[in-house]
Amino acid sequence: MAADQSKADVTRPFVARLTRPEDDPDAFARAVEALKHGELVAVPTETVYGLACDATNPDAVARLYAAKGRPAINPLIAHVPDFEAAAREGDLDARADRLGRAFWPGPLTLVVSRGTMCRVTPAACAGRPTLALRVPAAPLMQALARALDRPIAAPSANISGRVSATTADDVVEDLGRAVAVVLDAGPCPIGVESTIVDVSGEPARLLRPGGLARAAIEEALGATLADPPASATQSPAAPGLLTSHYAPSAAVRLDADDVAAGEALLAFGPDLPDGAERAVAIVNLSPTGDLAEAAANLFQALRRLDRTGVSTIAVAPIPPEGLGEAIRDRLVRAAAPRPSIHGD
Ligand code: TXA
Ligand code: MG
Repeated sequence: MAADQSKADVTRPFVARLTRPEDDPDAFARAVEALKHGELVAVPTETVYGLACDATNPDAVARLYAAKGRPAINPLIAHVPDFEAAAREGDLDARADRLGRAFWPGPLTLVVSRGTMCRVTPAACAGRPTLALRVPAAPLMQALARALDRPIAAPSANISGRVSATTADDVVEDLGRAVAVVLDAGPCPIGVESTIVDVSGEPARLLRPGGLARAAIEEALGATLADPPASATQSPAAPGLLTSHYAPSAAVRLDADDVAAGEALLAFGPDLPDGAERAVAIVNLSPTGDLAEAAANLFQALRRLDRTGVSTIAVAPIPPEGLGEAIRDRLVRAAAPRPSIHGD
């Protein structure tokens, strides 16, 4: 509406380029102040950009759900600066202790029981008795959680159900003025979200493959990780695991060994599928076939191919090992039929 637009604050969001707080202390302080006032701040982590708010503030959490268009039944990850802070919010059993000490700070999220002193507002956990905890390695998110001295709720900084954001430009494009401050540290080095392991019950389950490979976790745990409960992929009780997610506007065709006229190609490795010359556009996730490079490029590549306006993106086969498990998981969800809940 024109009247509303003319009243909109055109100075938002305030965008600052920094990797560490000391690069721009004023911008960092502005982000801390915004969080203290219940506003939303976009913050890079080593995995993807997060849309951050004070996890103890119910109004801020409500604002965050609204900005993302996220169903209120989908809980958020609480980010804390170190292991000790995690242990104050959640009940860390022997398995959580072992995994947290092995991999934090880093791209691992642990689902544990809420601790008796947990300050995270119940709405951020969607009313569940469990809490997802992560200690990020990225200096800005870690320093923000330390400066605020409260857990920070931060989902990926994209519109719910759509492709995650790995650059500050992506965040501004998706969330724009809903955000008070955007801290821009350039592209995220890992490029896919944290691995989520549920240790709130038996057995330990891999809820989401991510930036930390399954094999490393299983080795540290001395046990195999179970799959999510079968109900989790269909039930609205666990919408984060719903099949359709990371969806570009274009349809996505997986494990393509050829390219049809009019399709765009998401390639991987030195060998292109048959008919690659017919592709309207090609992005190669990693010409040398390096899975870490492919993960870092994945969401940018999907956004870039989507911008060409093609109706279908053909995706070359990606091996399922290491980070390939997380890449394939994102692509399978990007290819899945889209429920109306995600606004398609
Ligand atoms: O790398 C990441 O994890 C990024 C950065 C910003 O930290 N965050 C992220 O958040 O990916 P989000 O909200 O996009 O994904 C979090 C997932 C959702 O699928 C949610 O359902 C699940 O974690 N989750 C959160 N709390 C949970 C809980 N108590 N039990 C089970 N799943 C939970
Ligand atoms: Mg997300």
